Amino acid sequence: MSNIENELYPFHSWGMKIVRAEGIYLFDENGRKFIDITSSASVANIGYANERVISTMQTQLNKLIFSPPWCISEEAEELSGKLIRLFPKYLNTILRVTTGSESVEVALKLAKRYTKRSKFLSFEHSYHGHTIASMAIGMNDGTKKDFLPLIESDTLKHPHISSGIHMTESDVSKTLVEIETRLSTKEYAAFVTETMATSAGNYVLPKSFFTQLKEICDRYGTLLIIDEVLTGFGRTGMMFSFERFEVQPDIVCIAKGLGCGYSPIAATITKKEIAEGFDYFATFAWNPLACKTASAVLDEYKRLDLVKNSEKLGSEALLELQRKIGANHNVKEIRGMGLRISVEFNSEDFFKKVKDDLLVNGIFSSSADLPSILIISPPLCISSEEMGHVIDVIVNCVNHE
Ligand SMILES: Cc1ncc(COP(=O)(O)O)c(C=O)c1O
Repeated sequence: MSNIENELYPFHSWGMKIVRAEGIYLFDENGRKFIDITSSASVANIGYANERVISTMQTQLNKLIFSPPWCISEEAEELSGKLIRLFPKYLNTILRVTTGSESVEVALKLAKRYTKRSKFLSFEHSYHGHTIASMAIGMNDGTKKDFLPLIESDTLKHPHISSGIHMTESDVSKTLVEIETRLSTKEYAAFVTETMATSAGNYVLPKSFFTQLKEICDRYGTLLIIDEVLTGFGRTGMMFSFERFEVQPDIVCIAKGLGCGYSPIAATITKKEIAEGFDYFATFAWNPLACKTASAVLDEYKRLDLVKNSEKLGSEALLELQRKIGANHNVKEIRGMGLRISVEFNSEDFFKKVKDDLLVNGIFSSSADLPSILIISPPLCISSEEMGHVIDVIVNCVNHE
């Protein structure tokens, strides 16, 4: 047996070794079973061990796993057809990559090249990836200090993160004024954001913010990049969250829910005029096995009506939690969209107690990047009964101090 703690860096185990997963459940080496309300970093939207996807993969294993990356495969052709139909007509071009960070990387390159500008603007505390360029966007100075200089990027305070439950229309307007002041210099290639600051703790902004943001971007020739790596594929109750805000991004980044963990696959979606003449190469991107798998995953979203399930169960859960623990003195705010909800507590100690109690009661959960925030992000295939059980357990853990 190897000494894994020495070999793997950084080593994280959360005290558990997962040996099997099925549906919404994780099983550890001691035979314990947990409902996974993390969806393994909001990836496992269709659940684990989906028989149809696995069977498709098994057939594909015997047909074609990998082929010359310069040649198009019929599997890539099939997937691109299915994928592009999920987007508005004007977003008609797919750039093929393997991970979320890469999809952001490609978006930044596209924006730099198209606008001939080098700077980016985004929100502090946002997470867009781990590569040098994707980590330059968002995050905070502490996280970035060991890697300077990164690419040129400025961050603004996110009004919901700064003001919390007290965020007003005036806070949002002030942020828009700040954005306009920056973009009017015409130095910025793109404004990069998620519609909901997910990793920070599911901080939401009003629809009017996005409408005005896009107007400002257009006014100064800055592209709007919406990162749907986590929010995409039904997580927020719409196929893509930008649809809810009726905003028209110039570039969209997608990853996690495209392969749902069955295959590493991602993409950057844009307009033909932005992609025209842009050349790049990524060895593993969209290999035949990854494509056939993602194609079967997309079929499952449709067959199981998962986007609708996310919207229905998510909005019911939000209301239930607000009704049952919203007034608890330990609870600061409950927020979210679709099956991506968070409960923010007033103290780190209380949050830790809830998280530990959840585990004892068979629920595997995660926290946000900002302190004292529980993330509820179960597979979108969770049933109404299972979601009801999750809510009951959370309510009990919060109400029993
Ligand atoms: C919003 C967002 N963008 C980008 C990424 C980076 O994706 P990956 O870890 O696949 O590189 C993540 C990962 O958590 C993410 O949540």
